[in-house]
Amino acid sequence: MKYYIGSDHAGFALKEKLREYLKPEFELIDIGVFSEERADYPKIAFELAKKIYLENAMGILVCGTGIGMSIAANKIKGIRAAVIYDEFTAQMAREHNNANIACLGARNITEEKAIKITKIFLSTKFSGETETGKRHSERIRQIKEFEENALKK
Ligand code: RB5
Repeated sequence: MKYYIGSDHAGFALKEKLREYLKPEFELIDIGVFSEERADYPKIAFELAKKIYLENAMGILVCGTGIGMSIAANKIKGIRAAVIYDEFTAQMAREHNNANIACLGARNITEEKAIKITKIFLSTKFSGETETGKRHSERIRQIKEFEENALKK
């Protein structure tokens, strides 16, 4: 499994911390930004989300709140980007939603919390293969079907 990380200027410092503290458990490939110079989050979200889709990888996106990154990333086919902000949402995003991108807000959680919940997110498996997880797989199938067919005549 490949792991990517990206941020805008608001998330830059937290992105750097996450890369440092998650290594060597998780090697996060950094797609930028590389400074605190103001940057528009959609560009980074689209770039990272495309990689996640094409390489069947997982990703972390950091902005001020996590919200803008998740809105933008979810425009890409096959992306399930979830704003996570505590241990429970990190775990549920994987177990129930099979989220492939976690979006974090550098302005609303501490570094310590961000490191902890990112580890939970990256190490938790989707429950879909289990007996009780079948209903979660079915719901994700419904989302995929909508994604494929909703705008077709
Ligand atoms: C940048 O100021 C901020 O709006 C951005 O990082 C993010 O929080 C958007 O959702």
